[in-house]
Parts: sequence; structure tokens; C-alpha cells
Amino acid sequence: MERLRRLRATDAIRAMVRENHVRADELIYPLFVMEGSGEPVPVPSMPGVFQYAVDGGLDGIVDRVAESGVKAVLLFGVPAMKDEVGSGAYAEDGVVPRAIRAIKARRPGMAVIADVCLCEYTSHGHCGLVEGGRILNDETLPLLARSAVCYAKAGADVVAPSDMMDGRVAAIRAALDAEGLKDVAIMSYSAKFASAYYGPFRDAAHSAPQFGDRRTYQMDPANGREALREVAADVREGADMIIAKPAIAYLDVLKSISGATDLPIVAYNVSGEYSMVKAAAANGWIDERRVVMENLIGMKRAGAKMIITYHALDAARWIAEEG
Ligand code: PBG
Ligand code: ZN
Repeated sequence: MERLRRLRATDAIRAMVRENHVRADELIYPLFVMEGSGEPVPVPSMPGVFQYAVDGGLDGIVDRVAESGVKAVLLFGVPAMKDEVGSGAYAEDGVVPRAIRAIKARRPGMAVIADVCLCEYTSHGHCGLVEGGRILNDETLPLLARSAVCYAKAGADVVAPSDMMDGRVAAIRAALDAEGLKDVAIMSYSAKFASAYYGPFRDAAHSAPQFGDRRTYQMDPANGREALREVAADVREGADMIIAKPAIAYLDVLKSISGATDLPIVAYNVSGEYSMVKAAAANGWIDERRVVMENLIGMKRAGAKMIITYHALDAARWIAEEG
């Protein structure tokens, strides 16, 4: 008889045959950065997640990230004011470039990834320019490129376009190269679906669209094969890393992407996925630690190299405890 249980008999044997691991240095911790110098402001729909003030308010959390073994943060800006064209996204004294400089001054070894999008900065809350209720693709590209250059000049190691306009990776790569920022990498949100799981993030970033939805630019959740076309386009345009998002309901997408490109794959364990786990755990319905680690190992098994997750600091602690 085939006896598969032989390889499950002891802790030592299970460890020996274990195929995947979650490591702290493959986790990326998202940070929301707001204007001002006050105390961190909790995000009600994301227990344990805060908006941090750019002037001094980041120090504590940046130290905690560094000490946890997590080596990268992903920055989102919460600006004080918004306008039609999202000027805050590409202002040199904007909240994100200032945060990048603050983090690099305090922890030069930390990898700083800056999300590139307009939705946190536009009064209408869309990821691109809007005219007559429509989102303009090509007119948006120079603004995304300008934002990427602005963050790279401030010291970002990586820029991460999350807007889902066509052609933005090429536009950003060309603009970075033209400015001599050839070593700044692009982590592209290639397969980003129009998901209800982004709800809590939009509370945290104040970025909900004021009319309509994002379905003319983000992908249809029904489409798996199309994700491969998105990835292929971003690879051709010069992306260095590929994000698939959300993670848990889209593990098939992660798996197929990881078979289609040799670029490092990143799973984004999004806000709604985080909030569901936190809510169930707060009610005592699930074991938070075990569920989080099971979700993360599922993403690794599906082909993710890295994982962007709001659980990163907890997960890093649990990994360290396991030894
Ligand atoms: C902005 C952006 C979003 C997320 C990352 N970048 C929200 C959206 O597209 O509405 C979602 C992250 C999350 O839910 O954790 N373009
Ligand atoms: Zn956006």
C-alpha cells in the first residue's frame, strides 16, 4: 500500500519535506502616510492599521518594521487636499516623497516601494483623468510617469503603478530612464481585478470613486486568461516584478502567472481579506495566527515569491517564534 502518512509522522519529517515557507524578508508592509505631525489615526475597518503622520509620526512604525525582519514597505499617500488632476501625486513636497525621504534617512537599508496612482489625490477618486464621466487613458500616462519620477528622485527603490491604465509601465520606464533613474525598479500591478475586497483600503486612503466604479480599467473578476495578456504586456513594457491582486479568491491567477513569466511574482493580500480575518478572529470564530499563516502559505504554494500584507508584522513575529 502507498503510505503517504510516513512523511507526516513527526515534526522533523514534516519540516524536512515541507515544500514552501513564508519568510519575513519576502513580506511587504503597506503604510498609509498622512499630512501633519500628530499621533497615528486608526482605520476603523482595518483593526491594527493606522494612518501615520509624515512629520515624525512614521519613526515608531518604521523602527518596528525594521526590527521585525520585514525589509520593505509600500507607501500610500493620504493628502490634505485633492483636485481634478491629482496634483498631490506628483508634487515634490507631497506627502509620499516626504515620507520616502524620512524613511530613507532613518533606515537607509529598508526597501521603499511607492504606489503610483492618482485615486488618492483626485477629487473624483478615479485612478486617471476624467472627462465627461470617462477615464482618459493616454492623457493620464504622463501624470503617472511624473509621479514615478518624483518618488524615485525622493529615494524610492521601487515604484508600483496600480492605476491599470494601458501603457503605463512603458511610460514610467521611459520617464525614469530619461531622468537617469535607471536602477529604480517597476513592480507592476498587472493583474488587478475590480474587487469588492478593496473596500477597507478606500476608507484608509479616502480613495473611493465619487461616481461610477473602476470596471472600465480594473479587470473583470470572471477573467483568468486575460490576466496572462496583462502580464505579457507589462513584461514587454519593462516591468521588473508582477503583482496579482487580490490574492485569496485569485490563487488560480497567481498560479497561471507564475507559469507564464520568470519575473518575481507578488501576491497582494488586500484590505478586505485582512479585515475579514480580523473580524472573525475578534469574534473568537477562527484562530487568527493559524488562518493568517495558512492564507500566506497558500499564496506561496500558488507561486508568489513575495506577499504584500497588512499581517506582515504579526506574521514576522510568528515566523520568528517558530524558529
Ligand atoms: C489604488 C489602490 C487600491 C489598492 C491598492 N492601490 C485600491 C483601488 O484600486 O481601489 C487596494 C489595496 C487594498 O485593498 O489593500 N489604485
Ligand atoms: Zn488608483
